[in-house]
Amino acid sequence: MDQKYGSQRYTKITTHVLQEMKLRGEKIAMLTAYDFSMAGILEAAGIDIILVGDSASNVMAGHSTTLPITLNEMIYHAASVVRAVHRSLVVVDLPFGTYQGNSKEALASAIRIMKESGANAIKIEGGAEIIESVDRILSAGIPVMGHLGLTPQSIHKFGTYVVRATDDAEAHKLVEDAQKLDQAGCFAIVLEKIPSSLGTEVTQMVRCPTIGIGAGGGVDGQVLVLHDMLGITHKFSPRFLRRYHNLYEEIKGSVTNYIADVKSFDFPNDREQY
Ligand code: KIV
Repeated sequence: MDQKYGSQRYTKITTHVLQEMKLRGEKIAMLTAYDFSMAGILEAAGIDIILVGDSASNVMAGHSTTLPITLNEMIYHAASVVRAVHRSLVVVDLPFGTYQGNSKEALASAIRIMKESGANAIKIEGGAEIIESVDRILSAGIPVMGHLGLTPQSIHKFGTYVVRATDDAEAHKLVEDAQKLDQAGCFAIVLEKIPSSLGTEVTQMVRCPTIGIGAGGGVDGQVLVLHDMLGITHKFSPRFLRRYHNLYEEIKGSVTNYIADVKSFDFPNDREQY
């Protein structure tokens, strides 16, 4: 449906639009954002989905895992993103510890995110073990994105960030989980760090779009962490990551120049003062 923002007409990306994109074979582009300024740039560039990922725990807060970030912190990031966005679909991660207890707790967390941030949907990690929560959240009218394969909130169970579902048993469970999430009514499923053949198999099997991160080219869309693809983070180099910039070096260079200009009395010059 066409909408208007100022003098601009645009089609709001809804879960329905994403389903149509899958049906006509149009790839879906998703990136993370955690703040107003970056989200505004992503929206202006025409991104389909903005994920307020719990990777904010790593790239914004400096934690070594996604586990410490709180629901209040996720809501703060999500509300900042929503203020910049009109067209893209905004999806927010349910953080660790806010849905695993029981499905009522999961629903209460999802409702807080939707009410207090104005986002369009939530994302939740896991398969069969969280399906009751998925059902309950969906029955409240909140769109749910699933997340299978490498699920970073379970890092202490896995013990490592290596590729998941390389053996038959885990691959079989992943396929079953994807079918359960799809049948429950998830509008999309993220597939993280799995063999590309498995990504393709799941994509062909489920009705909803799949969004891959290290899941090959046979999925319906791709997602990357913004700070990784822009090269702001520079020590993280998995095979699936394509870097579009080296902002770490560029920003460092600009800051170095600024420091030199201040120290050498070059900044501010006559035109840069009142
Ligand atoms: O938190 C996040 O950024 C994610 C993506 C890696 C899919 O879940």
